[in-house]
Amino acid sequence: MRRLRRTSRIRELVRQTILTPKNLVYPVFVSEGINRPESIDAMPGQSRIPLQRVTEEGKEISSLGIPAVILFGIPRKKDDMGSSAYTKNGVVQRAVKALKGELGDELVVITDICLCQYTSHGHCGIVSGDRILNDSTLEVLGKIAVSHAEAGVDIVAPSGMMDGQVGGIRRALDDSGYTDVAIMAYAAKHASCFYGPFRDAAHSSPKFGDRRSYQMDFANPDEAIREVELDIQEGADIVMVKPALAYLDLIYRVKTRFGVPTAAYSVSGEYATIKAAAERGWIDEKSAVLETLTAIRRAGADIIITYYAKDASRWLAKK
Ligand code: PBG
Repeated sequence: MRRLRRTSRIRELVRQTILTPKNLVYPVFVSEGINRPESIDAMPGQSRIPLQRVTEEGKEISSLGIPAVILFGIPRKKDDMGSSAYTKNGVVQRAVKALKGELGDELVVITDICLCQYTSHGHCGIVSGDRILNDSTLEVLGKIAVSHAEAGVDIVAPSGMMDGQVGGIRRALDDSGYTDVAIMAYAAKHASCFYGPFRDAAHSSPKFGDRRSYQMDFANPDEAIREVELDIQEGADIVMVKPALAYLDLIYRVKTRFGVPTAAYSVSGEYATIKAAAERGWIDEKSAVLETLTAIRRAGADIIITYYAKDASRWLAKK
């Protein structure tokens, strides 16, 4: 076996799993209430940016060879119904318009479709008492998706884990004439402690209870397959497994079983974990990132959403 490991060129020649910036999506937090970037404590190296910085950010990402961003909005005002999520002049709608206006088809713009950043209670759906209502939430999700489509989005990514959200959004988009807008479904999204740093970044922690009545129990792989199957039936164009690193078995099963474009979200806690160990000098950051991203690709992910997208692109270009 060692004959083919002898030189770096030979190793390249026989390398099976290829990682390139083309596989990556960079998450961008756009905040309505700020004038300059704010660094995110639990995610060193990542920031919330103001609207006026978004095209500059888009250009940098695109110039690194990264084809896509996923946008998260942080609105100035929150209410019970999350109404700032679907106003025409909302923070995400304006960011999409700016990016598509400036960069056109050079950058694929994906938007996260959820209520938790926009509701005062911080849950991903409409709340009654201490219950999260499924079907009333679907209506709002449809409105959000259509408002993003009006702004020019390429792909919407529902992340709230409401039953029927993909079908509901597909119908709402089609009924408004947006048949070309694609859906990347957060299909198997688990109730995970690895979202902690994101909730700090997006100010989206639930004010009561937790998300276990809608996000998946990570102990249930068969249920993950059913979630993915339902989303495909409802019209998902891309399906996602989230988180990524502790869920490589699910990425593998989903890709092998369905053969559809499959994304993996390497979440905020995965980023923070590597970052913290690297800052202490306990792990080599670049090696850890390239190894883990390659492993996620090897498991079967076509697309990886990662906060390391920019760094990885720079590292890959220098190799
Ligand atoms: C919104 C959403 C979350 C993430 C992506 N979309 C937070 C959550 O579900 O609590 C997490 C992303 C990350 O941790 O990097 N529903």
